[in-house]
Amino acid sequence: MQAGPQNPKHRILSNLGQKGKWPIYDLVLRDARLEGQAVDLAVEGGRIAAIGQGLGQGREEIDAEGRMVSPPLIESHVHLDTTLTAGEPKWNESGTLFEGIATWALRKESLTEADVVVRATELLRWQAAQGVLFVRSHVDTTDPDLTAVKALLRVREQVRDLVDLQLVAFPQEGILSYPKGEELLEEALRMGVDVVGGIPHYELTRDMGAESVKIAFRLAEKYDRQVDIHCDETDDPQSRFLEVVAAETIRSGMGDRVTASHTTAFGSYDDAYAFKLMGFLRRAGLNFVANPLVNITLQGRMDTYPKRRGMTRVKELWQEGLNVSLGYDDVMDPWYSLGTGNMLQPAHMAVHVAQMTGRQQVVACYDMVTRNAARTLGVADRYGLEVGKPADFIVLDAPDAWDALRRLATVTKVVKGGRLIAAATPPEVRLKGERITFQR
Ligand code: FE2
Repeated sequence: MQAGPQNPKHRILSNLGQKGKWPIYDLVLRDARLEGQAVDLAVEGGRIAAIGQGLGQGREEIDAEGRMVSPPLIESHVHLDTTLTAGEPKWNESGTLFEGIATWALRKESLTEADVVVRATELLRWQAAQGVLFVRSHVDTTDPDLTAVKALLRVREQVRDLVDLQLVAFPQEGILSYPKGEELLEEALRMGVDVVGGIPHYELTRDMGAESVKIAFRLAEKYDRQVDIHCDETDDPQSRFLEVVAAETIRSGMGDRVTASHTTAFGSYDDAYAFKLMGFLRRAGLNFVANPLVNITLQGRMDTYPKRRGMTRVKELWQEGLNVSLGYDDVMDPWYSLGTGNMLQPAHMAVHVAQMTGRQQVVACYDMVTRNAARTLGVADRYGLEVGKPADFIVLDAPDAWDALRRLATVTKVVKGGRLIAAATPPEVRLKGERITFQR
């Protein structure tokens, strides 16, 4: 391709970047790989100004050295109020959901706003450093003081230069089963929490569960918010609130503004019911979030053998053309004591748990922590490597998404709003003095 002002792509874009004969951009990323092609990417005024070959100079230049450029990673589902508390006041030795709940009840006694702010900010810094620039976090509203809500609303403002944080009002102990659960949920929305949550399978009765879903949708319509329900996070094949969420999505016409998170019971439904339900889900057009690291760990615990995998039907939902994205769910808390917030890890686990090992299926799992997740969060209009969109992108130490997941590649550069905010050097491994790259 021709370089300089004769390049048609370049000419179109030079309106944004030209300062004389040759455009001078704020930033140029050189020699990056995008869909198998070597490209430069230019940034002007915090937005992507040009993508092409032989672009003009940048006041700042970054050499991608042939590595892939990607839109940023996205965290679709995490709990920032519980994060980084593993071992406080004790470790969850059995690793079960129930010991997790009991351990959190002990830790919650000492919860303060400052405590939540410090831990949540720390995890978001870990995530931003690893190229995760959009995060949806649930925040517990079943607390008369709404301590975590106040804290995370502060964090959302304080981290704006690093991460686009979206909060879900999450009634951990129920909307109807916790005293004033509905009022607290609504108060969190009035305070500015972005999305309405729910947990129907944890309400005291099946009827209360169905009613709680309807309340969540009523509030979403009243305050013009998205919905993200913790739905059927159990192995119980009789837990069937996903059909209620689908029905409410169809009734309200909210479509892709609705997300069903976890839906692990879908992995335990018999096929006759699952096939019928799948048709309703297609009709509803809602989003799904699976959390493979935590689902594979917490679900199936009551089984001896055969032991269920406990994840929702990720591959089948994807094959139906429904939008699926992935979350970490918990990072170093009573439910999952491991983790760093690196979104390649849940994508890598999804490949295994969903048996999505086909060449295109692995790439689809990468999409689940990038562009699919942008749809789930409702940020697709400002996400992606396109001219005019905000200059948010990452460079990975891999030629393509398949290899990035295979080797859990290091994110070497993180650019947010046109500014380089993080950089890393991939580990250099030598065997008897000879470099090993783990690539053929
Ligand atoms: Fe969750």
